[in-house]
Amino acid sequence: MPAYAILGAQWGDEGKGKIIDYLSKRADIVARFSGGNNAGHTVINDLGDFSLHLVPCGVFSDGVINVIGNGVVVDPDVLIEEIESLQQSGIDITQSLMISERAHLIMPYHVILDTLAEAQRGETAIGTTGKGIGPAYSDKTSRTGIRAADILDLDNLKTRLETVLPFTNAVLEKIYGVQPISLKLILEKSEYWQKRLGAFIKPVGRFVNDTLDNGGTVVLEGAQGILLDLDHGTYPFVTSSSPTIGGASTGLAIQPNQITNVLGIFKAYNTRVGSGPFPTELFDGIGEGIRTIAKEFGTTTGRPRRIGWFDGVLARYSNRINGYTSAVITRLDVLDHLDSVSICVGYKLDGEIIDEPPGGVAALERCIPEYETLPGWDVPTAGVSEIADLPKNARAYVERLEELIGCSVDIISTGPHRDHTIMVRDILAS
Ligand code: IMP
Repeated sequence: MPAYAILGAQWGDEGKGKIIDYLSKRADIVARFSGGNNAGHTVINDLGDFSLHLVPCGVFSDGVINVIGNGVVVDPDVLIEEIESLQQSGIDITQSLMISERAHLIMPYHVILDTLAEAQRGETAIGTTGKGIGPAYSDKTSRTGIRAADILDLDNLKTRLETVLPFTNAVLEKIYGVQPISLKLILEKSEYWQKRLGAFIKPVGRFVNDTLDNGGTVVLEGAQGILLDLDHGTYPFVTSSSPTIGGASTGLAIQPNQITNVLGIFKAYNTRVGSGPFPTELFDGIGEGIRTIAKEFGTTTGRPRRIGWFDGVLARYSNRINGYTSAVITRLDVLDHLDSVSICVGYKLDGEIIDEPPGGVAALERCIPEYETLPGWDVPTAGVSEIADLPKNARAYVERLEELIGCSVDIISTGPHRDHTIMVRDILAS
């Protein structure tokens, strides 16, 4: 009953999509457990180049059931669009998609509230993706959310909305001074969503558990990364969900001890989108060069990503929270052009050397990275698929990352395609 959790080990955009696509060849289920369409998972394979926001990355492998778990927030219109767009590329997921009846829905007012709240924050804006993620999760915790199961019973939904909408509309009108949302509009939309998505809405928790109990393989698809986690990230500059190992369990109703493999996906350097502290951020030509070579622009918003050196302090912290059984290093080839590469191995905070990030963002902003510099490699790593073919200096770099993370690097990605992958240890066999 192997369950592989695929977790973002930094600030998201680590290349989880490619790794999930790679592992899904051997999976029975690929199940997404957190976030919403703020995520953008890139998959490049024989079928084409894809950017998935809600649909799990198992859709390209035959016989895989793709589950959207209870921990995900689903914008129904975006999901319908994504299903249609895949269909246009010849990928029919109507027989392989399941949505948890307990997943919360992103309603049109959540998207409006996200944009209005960001505008009101002004200089202190989080830099959200504007997809309604925060307001949808806020409603979930306030117990005023609408769940997938609710659109299956429109009479009950109407009663529920009659309680929920007046408060939301008071906020829209009295706090932000904008037009309220009509109950009629939401009910009409819900009827349409029921027609288009109703058949996929199911009690998936039992199904995932039974598959594991019967010896099946499940890939737990994370979104975003630990440093954007609501509890363990750089709060308040975080998303509103739990992209960590705990989120994998609650977001799919999986018992923690059913998770056999925990894969921490790290980019060979660091990136971040949106505001918030980033100790190793590069403001020079090196950062610009990496952004250009690696096309580091948000998959969902198109915003330029901030670039920095690999941060060993945050990497070790990430492993401490998630307990990786394997580390995966992606985009090693992006560093091919550099004469030397730096790694942050500690922070100096108010004159003292520390090896754990402080909890407060103001203190993290004051941390000055301590760097180690390693020589670059003269032979490119791009496309390499055997560890023996990796240049000596690139291997030394990966080995140093491994020491700092505190976990063996079992997979190295050297390019966007499935076969641009070095399987250092065959974790699928273990
Ligand atoms: P939200 O999730 O849209 O509320 O955005 C909160 C913060 O998380 C912002 O800084 C976003 O840029 C960041 N964020 C959300 N999703 C992703 C992602 O998939 N990759 C990278 N950053 C993300």
